[in-house]
Amino acid sequence: MGQAFQQTFTFLIGDCFVAKNAPRNDRELFMTNFDERARDWDSDPLKVERARDVADAIRKAVPLSTSMNALEYGCGTGLLSFALQTDLGQITLADTSQGMLDVLAEKIHTAGVQNMHPIKLDLATDPLPAERYQLTYSLMTLHHIHDPREMIYKFHALLEPNGYLLVADLDKEDGTFHTDGTTDVHKGFERVELQKWVEAAGFGNVTFSPAYEIKKMIDDREKVFPVFLMSARKIPG
Ligand SMILES: C[S@@+](CC[C@H](N)C(=O)[O-])C[C@H]1O[C@@H](n2cnc3c(N)ncnc32)[C@H](O)[C@@H]1O
Repeated sequence: MGQAFQQTFTFLIGDCFVAKNAPRNDRELFMTNFDERARDWDSDPLKVERARDVADAIRKAVPLSTSMNALEYGCGTGLLSFALQTDLGQITLADTSQGMLDVLAEKIHTAGVQNMHPIKLDLATDPLPAERYQLTYSLMTLHHIHDPREMIYKFHALLEPNGYLLVADLDKEDGTFHTDGTTDVHKGFERVELQKWVEAAGFGNVTFSPAYEIKKMIDDREKVFPVFLMSARKIPG
């Protein structure tokens, strides 16, 4: 086997860079690299379309108003929050990727938008911010969180009583959405299980609606990965 074949290289699959042809243990060390993807993120029209469709689904699920302060968690370049920007009051946009946050800050500056505020935040490890929100939403991020159940408790703590949680993410899939080189992702979610987690954390009125369909060629056949929108409301008390 030639040396070139043994070298690790990265290639793009869906939302992730993954390593191919690396030894198994090395492959498992490779994480999705959102910093590297940030500059080109918005050049994918399907990601823009996805954010717009999810924004429409959120508008149908929740009566939005400019008196609502919102948190987007795992905002990336802010596609979803830009789509909701005029529907909401102040929007805090949190992500762990500095590359994503840099692109987002440039977009906010260029657009001259006053109500969008990026922060670097990992709720899994950082102290809970002091601010509370009427709305928390995330798009295609929960499946990247190591402990999504724990994260739902954090979302609950950050919401005001009667606040809304909106999560758009993949339905349970067979692992072909990401490759087996990425071990840091969940293969979507069973809605019933997610609802149990959310209710255990103190939410009620849990509903699911279809938000988008991601289509990919897998083994020369088109495969559809549905994206749901889950809406839930923090039970006061
Ligand atoms: C698939 S991208 C989605 C980005 C954006 N929501 C969109 O739909 O265009 C997942 C995002 O979650 C962020 N992310 C991954 N792990 C995270 C964590 N533990 N906390 C916050 N954000 C995280 C990544 O940096 C990335 O921007």
